[in-house]
Amino acid sequence: MIKIAPSLLAADLLHLGDGIRRMREAGADYLHFDVMDGTFVPNLSFGTDMCRQVAGCGLPVDVHLMIVNPEKYIDAFAKDGARIITVHAEAATHLHRCLHEIREAGCLAGVALNPATSPECLRYVLGDFDLALVMTVNPGYGGQKLVSACIDKVAAVRRMLDEAGLDAIVEVDGGVNLQTAPALVRAGADMLVTGSAAFGAKDAKAFMEALRGV
Ligand code: DX5
Ligand code: ZN
Repeated sequence: MIKIAPSLLAADLLHLGDGIRRMREAGADYLHFDVMDGTFVPNLSFGTDMCRQVAGCGLPVDVHLMIVNPEKYIDAFAKDGARIITVHAEAATHLHRCLHEIREAGCLAGVALNPATSPECLRYVLGDFDLALVMTVNPGYGGQKLVSACIDKVAAVRRMLDEAGLDAIVEVDGGVNLQTAPALVRAGADMLVTGSAAFGAKDAKAFMEALRGV
């Protein structure tokens, strides 16, 4: 079953509670929570206080850390309600240790790869993560167009997991909509982050049903 994680980056922040309720009633499985530091990515976004409030809204929170030194914030996000914590392979100098710290903090551990990062960097941490996040745009902003070269990477990651007999989640993030999702799901993605398409949909429930059925 495909899991859907609407990205709060695309929500109307003045009416965040209403937006979250709309996504929950439409059938979202997670809330995707983008954390940006202005260094790893050019933009700034949300922090732990907001995570804690969002985590009280009835859906598990999928925290995507687009920050340098992500190990510094694992315990704080775990304490503030994260269910999944994903760090970038490009930002976590000691990725193996970082993934184990996330699990020890009681969360599912994710590794994210920028569009230009090879899937090979997962090979030596296979078994140490619960989720691989294949970025399908350069992280930092919502509403961008999917980088189509990343579709093959989704397939490569799924193949690597299958060959190792592992069933980690393969999540995709960036430019996911009803036009781009079919190829991503065919390639092996089973968790779809969707920001502008989900929050921009007139009928979010119909959108999610269609997305799940691609
Ligand atoms: C991008 C973020 C994404 C973003 C997705 O840096 O990691 O989660 O919000 O937004 P859309 O679906 O609009 O591309
Ligand atoms: Zn994200």
